[in-house]
Amino acid sequence: MDAEICVGVVGLGLAATAHIRGYLSHPQARVLAVCDNDGGRAAAFGEQHGIERVYTSYAELVTDGDLHVIDIATPTFLHAEMTALAAEAGKHIHCEKPFCRSVAEGMAAVQAAKKAGVKLLVGETYVFLSSHMKARELIEDGAIGRPLQIRQRHGAWHRRAQHELHIDAAARAWRLDGAKSGGGRYPWIFDHAVHFFATAEYLMGDTQIDEVYAVAASAGGGPSRGGAEHDPYRTAEVDIPIITWRYADPERQGVWMRAERLNGKYDFMHGFSTTVVGETGIIEVLGEGGHNLLWQGEQQHLVLHREGQETACFRFDEGGDRVWASEISYYGMGHVNQVHHLIEAIRQNSLVRYGGEDGVRAVRCTLAAIRSAQEGRPVPVAEVEESYKAYE
Ligand SMILES: NC(=O)c1ccc[n+]([C@@H]2O[C@H](COP(=O)([O-])OP(=O)(O)OC[C@H]3O[C@@H](n4cnc5c(N)ncnc54)[C@H](O)[C@@H]3O)[C@@H](O)[C@H]2O)c1
Repeated sequence: MDAEICVGVVGLGLAATAHIRGYLSHPQARVLAVCDNDGGRAAAFGEQHGIERVYTSYAELVTDGDLHVIDIATPTFLHAEMTALAAEAGKHIHCEKPFCRSVAEGMAAVQAAKKAGVKLLVGETYVFLSSHMKARELIEDGAIGRPLQIRQRHGAWHRRAQHELHIDAAARAWRLDGAKSGGGRYPWIFDHAVHFFATAEYLMGDTQIDEVYAVAASAGGGPSRGGAEHDPYRTAEVDIPIITWRYADPERQGVWMRAERLNGKYDFMHGFSTTVVGETGIIEVLGEGGHNLLWQGEQQHLVLHREGQETACFRFDEGGDRVWASEISYYGMGHVNQVHHLIEAIRQNSLVRYGGEDGVRAVRCTLAAIRSAQEGRPVPVAEVEESYKAYE
């Protein structure tokens, strides 16, 4: 398909701002329409990016006959419903994570996309981040032998002094709402853990996580300090600072650990990083907002250590992050990569790398973690019923 691919973007907040650069930088893509139920924001966004059609109603956007793709960047509770409506209208879909709030909700949207024969890409940016894609490539090339263990580290994200976030607390209040965020008493975990589970399976060659155990804690413990300043999150009454998991392959396991100001702790490395331990080597890699991965005093984005060989280091010179004070380009290239991937999948009629069922899987693992924290026991992912939700 060489014709121009016309896109309509709905939900014009932080995520849409990152997506739009992906479309604007692809020669075959054109953002023809935008939509937000906040008319002022829709008009300003349309004007800023020179977009012809500005809607305040999703029903009108989705039935615009000139659009081939709907990009859904609205709050989480709208994702599955908007995906199903876009599929029924015959549009290809790029939908932000978390894809759904329950397995049942997500699978209904997946079925709608299958029935319509449209492409559905879930915007799981962690599997489109250059450093993670390079780590996967090295692992596939056998650089560290069979990957056996994954360790993920999470500290606070630090905003750049000059950034492009709209910091409107009222508009972002959905993030704290149990039903709108989907996370019940664990809105932060629900919004973010999908990234960590997606990474855990992606860097383990798509081996599925079988069972999850979350260590629950009362929050706090350190001095009261702000976390990621742009978000409305407050120190939660319940915290999940550590999650461990086993894979279907019993030799493999993983752990994710969070220490940031928002949960009363402080990890000076900031952001996200991952270590993959293989049979013959290890890879350390920076993720969202990450920095301070040093080798011989120099900042690196990925470090590869192998038995009996020189350590190799990689940097991805992509112009830096647009939002975080970070060594890695998350809000730059991570989002651009995923948008370009969808456009290419449409042009070449190829499979998308992270589809609806993948998005539902990450949510299912997240729900297993929340249930584990609530019940104080390991929870098999398969035990999470289709109807199970983290909110009342
Ligand atoms: N992949 C990533 O790295 C990443 C980063 C940020 C956010 N996200 C995800 O993207 C989604 C949006 O997050 P955000 O931070 O951009 O939110 P946001 O609050 O900044 O923006 C959401 C926008 O949606 C609009 N909206 C709400 N209801 C609407 C409706 N019915 N119709 C049209 N517009 C509507 C709001 O007015 C607002 O402008 C969330 O699910 C979030 O988890 C993903």
